[in-house]
Amino acid sequence: MKVIKTSDNTFTLYNKEFNECYHSLGDGAYTETLYKHILPPIELTNLFYKSHLRILDICFGLGYNSFTTISQYLKRRYKGKLEIFSPEKDGKIFEKLALLEYPAEIENIDIFKIINELQTTKKSFPTPQISLEIFFGDAREYLDTFRTNSIDIIYQDPFSLKKNPELWDAKYFAKLFEIATDESIVTTYCTHSAVKRTAKEAGFFVYEHQSGFTRKSTLLTKKPLDKLNFIEYN
Ligand SMILES: C[S@@+](CC[C@H](N)C(=O)[O-])C[C@H]1O[C@@H](n2cnc3c(N)ncnc32)[C@H](O)[C@@H]1O
Repeated sequence: MKVIKTSDNTFTLYNKEFNECYHSLGDGAYTETLYKHILPPIELTNLFYKSHLRILDICFGLGYNSFTTISQYLKRRYKGKLEIFSPEKDGKIFEKLALLEYPAEIENIDIFKIINELQTTKKSFPTPQISLEIFFGDAREYLDTFRTNSIDIIYQDPFSLKKNPELWDAKYFAKLFEIATDESIVTTYCTHSAVKRTAKEAGFFVYEHQSGFTRKSTLLTKKPLDKLNFIEYN
């Protein structure tokens, strides 16, 4: 397993099985995580003011999305209950995490303790108000365990369409649409037009997002977003 330094000096890994890196080398692992996934729901929706948030992080990978979420919600003093759910099919993922040095920006959380708890009980409670659950198995199987309209934020972050097609097809997006709440937002690095079309056909509003710090990404919502710097994809 090869550790790679990305453009913002944070680290990611190269996955041999999928022949792909876990993060964008050009955007930087942490920068991509923060600007494409964690910040859009906080800055572009009112979800941060909900008293209870349920986030689906697809998939756990190196844990950047889950850890950065916990780090940011704590720094921003989120007042409610935060539940993060994350599937991962790689049973050896913890061996990979051990190779990594995590970014200084998330040093406000005890990553070592969280990983230890996930390893022993598949669930971690970084604070009494925050929980993180990892599900070992196929993400599609995990999605079937969620009720309709029960997830507020979805980080759609599998490997690429080419390498991970089962997590980008019509059936899969229909399931995301079903479990997402009406006010929900889905974030993804993917800007592929075929994926945007599939998401739109599932019922989502599809937006091109430009954070200013990364390459473009895509946001999906069930209700139109009223922010001006978005171009709705048609
Ligand atoms: C791009 S990485 C995720 C990066 C992660 N979000 C992070 O922040 O570090 C994709 C992950 O999806 C996992 N994966 C691929 N197909 C899957 C499936 N069908 N079910 C569950 N996990 C899957 C891979 O093992 C890999 O860890």
